[in-house]
Amino acid sequence: MSTQPIGRRLLIVGSGVSGLFAALQALALGTEVTLVTKDALGTSNSALAQGGLSAVTAQGTAAGDSVSEHVQDTLSAGAGHCAPAPVQLMCELGEEIVTRLEAYGVRFDRNADETLQLGLEAAHSRARIVHVGGDATGAGLVRTLADACRALSVSGRLRLLEHTLATEVLLDQGRVHAVRVHSAGRENTLTCDALLLATGGLGQLYAATTNPDGATADGIGLAAAAGAVLTDMEFIQFHPTLVDPQYHPEAGMISEAVRGEGAILLNDAGQRFMAEHPQAELAPRDVVARAIHAEYAEGRRVFLDARGIERERGTGFLARRFPTISARLADSSLDMARDLIPVCPAQHYAMGGIATDRQGRTTVAGLYAAGECANTGVHGANRLASNSLLEALVFADRAVRAMAQDSAGTRVDFPELAVTELPLPNAQGPLTLPDLQALASATLAVRRDGPGLTAAIGQLQAGSPLAGDPRSHFELRNLWLTARIIAHAAAQRTGNLGAHYRTDGVGDGDAGRRTGWMLAGAERALLQNDPKGTLV
Ligand code: SIN
Repeated sequence: MSTQPIGRRLLIVGSGVSGLFAALQALALGTEVTLVTKDALGTSNSALAQGGLSAVTAQGTAAGDSVSEHVQDTLSAGAGHCAPAPVQLMCELGEEIVTRLEAYGVRFDRNADETLQLGLEAAHSRARIVHVGGDATGAGLVRTLADACRALSVSGRLRLLEHTLATEVLLDQGRVHAVRVHSAGRENTLTCDALLLATGGLGQLYAATTNPDGATADGIGLAAAAGAVLTDMEFIQFHPTLVDPQYHPEAGMISEAVRGEGAILLNDAGQRFMAEHPQAELAPRDVVARAIHAEYAEGRRVFLDARGIERERGTGFLARRFPTISARLADSSLDMARDLIPVCPAQHYAMGGIATDRQGRTTVAGLYAAGECANTGVHGANRLASNSLLEALVFADRAVRAMAQDSAGTRVDFPELAVTELPLPNAQGPLTLPDLQALASATLAVRRDGPGLTAAIGQLQAGSPLAGDPRSHFELRNLWLTARIIAHAAAQRTGNLGAHYRTDGVGDGDAGRRTGWMLAGAERALLQNDPKGTLV
C-alpha cells in the first residue's frame, strides 16, 4: 500500500466499523482525512454486533469449508436477490480482513491450541463465524479501531470531530464539495474532495429494534437530499430473538449464535414450532422471524430454550461462551441456563440503502457509501448472519481506495435500474417520532399487505415531521424520508421475496429486479434550503 500523500481531502461521516476502518485505510494511503461522528467515537450499531464476523479462513478450509460455500450460503439466504460479483468478492476477502484486523490488535477468540474458535449461525452450512469476547465482537472491533483512530488524532494525523452532526451534502455543479455540520449549537462547512457516508442503520424507525438510539437513517437522508439513488429499500431484516421488551425492556437481543450452539424455540404450549423446517431454528432469519410472528398472531408467546446446551456442555458454559448476553440477562433477573427466555422479532438491519458499485461509488459525483447505509447488493433480500461486519470492512476499504484515486466528478450509473421519483409530500399535519414508529411497526413490518401499505403511504405523504430540537428534527426527517421510500418500494413489489413478505403477495417476488428510488428535484430543493430538516 502506498504511503505517498495522494493529496485528496477525504471526509468520512460515521464511526462504526466501516467509518473507522475507512479512516485508517485512507490515512495509510496518504490522504488527508476528517472523520465526523455525531456522538462519541465508535458509538454505533457495529459496537452492538454480538455474533461475529463470517470468514472462510485457512483453518476453515482445512476443515472442509470453502469460499464457494460461503458464497452459496449468502446467495441462498438472500433469496436469489444478491448481486453475485460483490458476494464473491466479499467472501474471498474474509481471511484477509481477519488478518488485517489482527494486525490492528483485534484478538479473535481462540481455543487452547491457538486455533480460531469458529461459531455457527443460521443459514451457514459450516461453522465460520470468528468472534471476540464470546459475544462482544462488534464492541471488540470498534474499541480496537477507535483506539487506533484516536491515537492518530492525538498525533495530529487524523482530524476527528466528535459530537458533530452532518446535516447537508453541498454540491457544486453536481459534485460533492462540502458538508454542512452542526456542533455545540454552531454551524460549520467542511470542504472535501470526496465524501464517504458510513452512518449505519435506520432501526429507530421501528418501536422494537436491536439498533442503538443513533440509528436514524442519517446517511440515507443526506444522500437522498443530495440526489442519490437508493435501492432495495423494501428489504428490512427482523432479528428473531429480541428478549420481549414488554416483560424485560432492558434485556436486549440474544445472538443467533446461541441457536448455533443448540438453543431451540418453543411456544407457550411447549411445541417446537421450527422442528418441521429442514434447518429448524437455524433456518434463514426471515423464515424464523415470520414463524415467531405467526405464533404471536395466533395468541401464543415464544421462548428461547438454551437449557439443554448447559446440560450437555456443563455448568457455566453459557456464561463463558456468551458473557455479555448472560450479564445483560442477569440484570433483568434472567438466566439462559435456568429460564425459558421470552423472545419476539425486532427490526435489526436494512438490506437496501444508497446504491453503490463495488468501490462504494454512488450516483452522485464525489459521494461514496459503505456499511449498512449502503447497498452493494451483497445482502439481497435477506442478509446472512454475520456478513454485515465483513461487508462493512471489505467495501469501506475499497471505497477509500477509489476516493483517493478517482478523478473529480466520478460517479456510477446503473443503466439497468428503473428509478422512480418519490411523489412530493403534501404536508397536512404533524408527525412525531412515536407516530412514525407506530406506523412503521404496523405496516412496514415482518408481514405487510397492500391496503396497509397504501394507508401508510397516504399518512407518510401527508405528515410533517415534528420534533423538539434541531438534532431530533433532522433525525426524524431522515427517518420519515426513509419510511416513505420503504413504503413505496414495498407497495411496488407485489410478490414475496426474502424479508419482504406480503400476506397478499402474488408471484415469486421477482428476485434480481431491483427498485431504485430518488427524491424529486422540487423536494431536494426544499431540503437544501432547510438543511436542519425543519421545513415541513
Ligand atoms: C446475531 O448475533 O444474532 C446477529 C448477527 C448478525 O446480525 O449478523
